[in-house]
Amino acid sequence: MKERKHFAPGALTAPIPPAMVTVGDFDNANVLTIAWTGILATVPPKTYISVRPSRHSYQILKEKGEFVINLPSVALAKEVDFVGIYTGKKMDKFEKCQLTKQRSEKVAPPTIAECPIALECRVTDILPMGSHDVFMADIVSVSCQDHIIDADGKMHFERADLLAYAHGEYYSLGEIVGRFGFSTDKPKKSEKTKKNTAKNSEKAVKVEKKPFYESAPRSKQQKKKPTDKNKGAPHGRKAAKK
Ligand SMILES: Cc1cc2nc3c(=O)[nH]c(=O)nc-3n(C[C@H](O)[C@H](O)[C@H](O)COP(=O)(O)O)c2cc1C
Repeated sequence: MKERKHFAPGALTAPIPPAMVTVGDFDNANVLTIAWTGILATVPPKTYISVRPSRHSYQILKEKGEFVINLPSVALAKEVDFVGIYTGKKMDKFEKCQLTKQRSEKVAPPTIAECPIALECRVTDILPMGSHDVFMADIVSVSCQDHIIDADGKMHFERADLLAYAHGEYYSLGEIVGRFGFSTDKPKKSEKTKKNTAKNSEKAVKVEKKPFYESAPRSKQQKKKPTDKNKGAPHGRKAAKK
């Protein structure tokens, strides 16, 4: 077993999205980077952003009650960092970073055209948390660039090349290593035959160890495997219901 060290408590969840959050309205918009964000509920679709009251955007958010979470691609890493360092109090960060404002469908703050995915949000609650206040919000509309969607209307997040953030550094996502529900996939016929051949062979002296989920006793509920219907859309709305 690997040794572990303990530290004082800290906000260390990772990886997280360094979202470009827009506030205000189309003509008087501001943008800041928010990494403290996530999903609160699937139905109704609810999210949050945690904002320090010292941010220029804080008061705008409180007054207008709307924001857009723009998820940036790796190509936007510098802009993400910039709008998270400089305040928009006396600077137009859209102009400075050459970001294009696009009309949002349901809220006043603009969507950033260069960001592949955007969530339009309406604030429902503001909760003081200490250093930051949490703005809980309903997601009232979602948009994404055309190239993310295939001919069947399915979203392909891997095409978005999304930027990630972990402990002070920006990352790209890397390869897909699985798909929602793939741990329950049955081995393909060809793999089964290969296994059996190896088992019967005199050379195969090593007993193959089963993964933990195959040997563990299964409760009735666990027996219910995901059907093709509910595990077939890893990037679609069904996968988001996790
Ligand atoms: C990667 C990154 C993540 C950040 N996450 C947050 C956050 O979750 N909440 C927050 O209040 N500020 C966060 N900031 C800081 C603000 O984006 C920054 O103070 C910004 O300049 C505020 O802009 P404004 O004054 O125009 O509102 C983050 C900055 C960076 C670079």
